[in-house]
Amino acid sequence: MNTLELDQDHCIRCGRCVSVCPQRILGRHPNGGIGVLHGAMVRCIRCGHCVAVCPKAALTLNHEPPTDLPLIEDAPLSDIQRDMLFKSRRSIRAYREEPIPHDLLRKALEEARYAPTASNTEQVEWLLVEGRDRLRDLGSRVADWMVNMTGPYRHVADAFRAGQDPILRGAPALILAHGSANVPWSALDCTAAVSYLELALHSYGIGSCWSGFVLAAAGNGVDLGIPVPQGRKLCAGLMIGYPAVRYARIPPRKPVRLTIVG
Ligand SMILES: Cc1cc2nc3c(=O)[nH]c(=O)nc-3n(C[C@H](O)[C@H](O)[C@H](O)COP(=O)(O)O)c2cc1C
Repeated sequence: MNTLELDQDHCIRCGRCVSVCPQRILGRHPNGGIGVLHGAMVRCIRCGHCVAVCPKAALTLNHEPPTDLPLIEDAPLSDIQRDMLFKSRRSIRAYREEPIPHDLLRKALEEARYAPTASNTEQVEWLLVEGRDRLRDLGSRVADWMVNMTGPYRHVADAFRAGQDPILRGAPALILAHGSANVPWSALDCTAAVSYLELALHSYGIGSCWSGFVLAAAGNGVDLGIPVPQGRKLCAGLMIGYPAVRYARIPPRKPVRLTIVG
């Protein structure tokens, strides 16, 4: 079970921790002091909001000294930085041959750990598939599945058989997010994580593109020839690699369509 200790000597009784805890684990005593409610720790989801919000580092979750936790810088992104991060990312469909250094990928995955997960289960795990032969084999399994279909899927299979690669776009690697096969939120958890990952990769100069065809095949029970752990299912993924071309401009998008109900 998780543990939460409150250092009463440092606590200023501001109540921030009480107000942010999603599980109502902390409460205020009649004397104004703050405390962990009796028997409430069974509900703790280890989200860390209490330790993150405390201005006095008075709370210790699971024995991790709060002063070891990184401080949040209050420097907001400039308008240009924000625009570049969100709007200059493109789905990359032409890659350089060179592989992505694993240490750089790990850095981006570190960022992706901070994507939200339902009830903070942090259940998302990753499979990295790389190597020309392995990827070609995977692409061909997806193409074999598509070949009996009609419409655009069939065209993709035909193009693959003609020697093009509309499935993996010649990317040197594919990263797949998997979640528990028994949890209804797995697809959403993995989608959120992959969305974080693609922006993180972009910030390191690494290109990516959602591998929709691969995931559609996986969702239809196609054996992709990769070791998905027992009890897990592939839910989202990206082709990744260094972009072969540089984009010079941000393309237009539809205007925001927002309906306000109230
Ligand atoms: C769920 C999903 C699946 C996708 N699957 C593919 C795919 O299999 N192949 C591909 O080339 N692009 C795929 N894309 C990329 C979209 O085509 C792309 O996001 C869209 O054209 C907009 O371009 P942008 O990402 O550069 O803004 C996918 C995107 C999403 C969100």
